[in-house]
Amino acid sequence: MNDSINVALMGYKFMGKAHSNAFRQVAHFFPDVALHPVMQVLCGRDQAAVQAAAAQFGWQETATDWRDVVTRPDIGLVDVSTPGDSHAAIAIAAAQHGKHVFCEKPLANTLAEAKAMHAAVQEAGVVGMVNFNYRRVPAVQLAKRLIDDGRIGQVYHWRAVYLQDWIMDPNFPLVWRLQKDQAGSGTLGDLGAHIVDLARMLLGEISSVSGLTETFIKQRPLLAGTTGGLGAAGSTQMGEVTVDDAAMFLARFANGAVGSFEVTRFAKGRANYNSFEINGSKGSIVFNLERMNELNVYLDSDAPDVRGFRNVLATDGSHQYISAWWPAGHIIGWEHTFTHGVFDLLNGIAAGTSPAPTFEDGVRCQAVLDAVERSAGSKQWVEPEY
Ligand SMILES: NC(=O)c1ccc[n+]([C@@H]2O[C@H](COP(=O)([O-])OP(=O)(O)OC[C@H]3O[C@@H](n4cnc5c(N)ncnc54)[C@H](O)[C@@H]3O)[C@@H](O)[C@H]2O)c1
Repeated sequence: MNDSINVALMGYKFMGKAHSNAFRQVAHFFPDVALHPVMQVLCGRDQAAVQAAAAQFGWQETATDWRDVVTRPDIGLVDVSTPGDSHAAIAIAAAQHGKHVFCEKPLANTLAEAKAMHAAVQEAGVVGMVNFNYRRVPAVQLAKRLIDDGRIGQVYHWRAVYLQDWIMDPNFPLVWRLQKDQAGSGTLGDLGAHIVDLARMLLGEISSVSGLTETFIKQRPLLAGTTGGLGAAGSTQMGEVTVDDAAMFLARFANGAVGSFEVTRFAKGRANYNSFEINGSKGSIVFNLERMNELNVYLDSDAPDVRGFRNVLATDGSHQYISAWWPAGHIIGWEHTFTHGVFDLLNGIAAGTSPAPTFEDGVRCQAVLDAVERSAGSKQWVEPEY
């Protein structure tokens, strides 16, 4: 039996569920993982709800204040799966108490916070990893291998969209994701962070951006129970939406390529459409999360009479992570990307190195998002401040 590490998970809703599943599955499917995670403490603010979640997901204990957890000597790894307004405080305190930190994306709500978090893990000498889980789709890893091996030649174009439609109803309430003090930004930090991270992994650094942001619905009903929420007479009170509903930007990459990025929560019919196309001098690559086991590839090196976009099913033993799962052609799903991340994280902790995306990657991504916001304000091309 390999060594183990006690894990504390902050947050038990969407990401809490996905991360719990990953910690539960990792040693079952990757028995060679260097550290076995012990699901020790689940932390949330509502005692009854966190207890119910712990029972459902398989955590041994619960806590209602993260400050009590990050100081515990028996905890080795702190997983930050809360909204962005608490990432910095939890991650910095955890690092200062010698805990390794796994943090949801975007790393922080501001570039300054992200830099402070990076400094904290460096000073403490602990592992820091950001959960940009789309890096760990086997088909995306295949795209990286094709680019790195020069199979599509010099890359000229990056074209990415990440489209959703869940807040198009004007009566959809003012949840935390629509408030800048809690979420940092709207689609830009939520969806844009993912495709900026993919672009950085596949093409390298972004050197300048020109962006715009838009908020289509500027006021929304306050949630019952929030300050100024459902009025005494039952009338719904409205609150200000303080983040973007959509963002678009053009980018120049340090390697000479150019890129376009579009993110929105107002693309009717697109629930979670995350797609990119890359064009190089010798070929092209297309990825679409809705067909996440596949990579569309066009290669000039094919014989002319059969040249065309081919659909590669990235599900055999030659594709990263796949040998842990099923025989070739037996597809995997979205939740597997989290298990892959946790596998790499635990091996990184055992080896004493932070697996990518590191907190430095988180800072670099945040710097691009920050530059887009500044560009949208100034209507000028802007350089990220790394
Ligand atoms: N990687 C991905 O694909 C992906 C997808 C969705 C969200 N996220 C990220 O995950 C994070 C959480 O998002 P979510 O969708 O899970 O949100 P959520 O609203 O579903 O869950 C947030 C959880 O955090 C808890 N929480 C909030 N403040 C807390 C505090 N101070 N102490 C302890 N617990 C606290 C809440 O009780 C809740 O359990 C965000 O950073 C978000 O951007 C990543």
